[in-house]
Amino acid sequence: MFRRSDQDRRPSLQIFVDGVTVEAREGDTVSAALLASGRDVRRETAVSGAPRLPYCMMGVCFDCLVTIDGVGNRQGCLVPVAAGMQIEIQKGKREIGR
Ligand code: FES
Repeated sequence: MFRRSDQDRRPSLQIFVDGVTVEAREGDTVSAALLASGRDVRRETAVSGAPRLPYCMMGVCFDCLVTIDGVGNRQGCLVPVAAGMQIEIQKGKREIGR
């Protein structure tokens, strides 16, 4: 659904999504990189398990919650990617102590 512009010349970097290497670009947010990856990045809500994707991309809707480097409930739309970042798509509520 999402595709990068052919004019995007930013340097690429690698992140890991559920253990799989994904190419991102410097300056991407985690949510932008996930959407551009072409992977199924739908999380599941904690109560009903309904699927969610990043929606507002500005920190309002909380539909972009992911686990980043072992810390759950991070808003992917507000966190810039970094090389080697470990991202897990959340399925349900975050685990305590992670
Ligand atoms: S996409 Fe809405 S808060 Fe992140």
